[in-house]
Amino acid sequence: MRKQIAAANWKMNLSYQEAENLLNEILSAEITLALHQQVLFAVPFPYLIMGNSEVADDQGYFIAAQNCSEKKNGAFTGEVSAEMIKSIGIKYVIVGHSERREYFNETNETLAGKANACLEQNLIPVFCCGETLSIREERRQNNFVQGQLEQSLFHLSSVEIKNIIIAYEPIWAIGTGQTASVEQAQEMHEYIRKALTTKYGVEIANEISILYGGSVKANNAQEIFSCPDVDGGLVGGASLVATDFVQIIKALKK
Ligand code: PGA
Repeated sequence: MRKQIAAANWKMNLSYQEAENLLNEILSAEITLALHQQVLFAVPFPYLIMGNSEVADDQGYFIAAQNCSEKKNGAFTGEVSAEMIKSIGIKYVIVGHSERREYFNETNETLAGKANACLEQNLIPVFCCGETLSIREERRQNNFVQGQLEQSLFHLSSVEIKNIIIAYEPIWAIGTGQTASVEQAQEMHEYIRKALTTKYGVEIANEISILYGGSVKANNAQEIFSCPDVDGGLVGGASLVATDFVQIIKALKK
């Protein structure tokens, strides 16, 4: 079975102490993961090392960075390179979250560079895509997401694309409490998998995990995750509440 993944995106929240407590609380639920299940915690940069040591003994639990630079190194004050992230033992990086696209002007082209930078360091990008409300209202969401994939990922080889996790996050559902319906989620995930199939063949497309993100909560995770092409979720708000995120981990496909 493809990897089923519950990924927490803490964004710019929590003090160091609060982050450590939250991580401990979630880990103390001692949910044993099956081999095809994984849990990621995308934490702010200053907490990566602490997080990594907290999850070290927990099979299938990993820490992720929320961003990295597309540049290798040099005079880019304030940026953090893929090599730096790799050098502290981190394996996953969120790339192209819609908040970074919107507030930090990350384009599909920049994100192609970030995906490359990650893969060069053997880091696994969690690549985010998804449309705005107006694009969905105009029923252009499929072409729009296809364009994001084509421009940021489809230059990758068959070997490289297998090391990508995709997160479909309709922007209108992020932080709004308005989740995509199960039908909308499945429809887009199926569409993404078809696009991957056309480009890379069915075998590779069937291996790539596609997560859903946008108001995943403890009480809707199971229904969303049960869609055949949904392989877990990227979770913002609900990942900041230990009991909720524990429920979300338990909702992964068995
Ligand atoms: P949300 O955020 O779960 O709070 O909607 C999801 C995300 O931004 O990854």
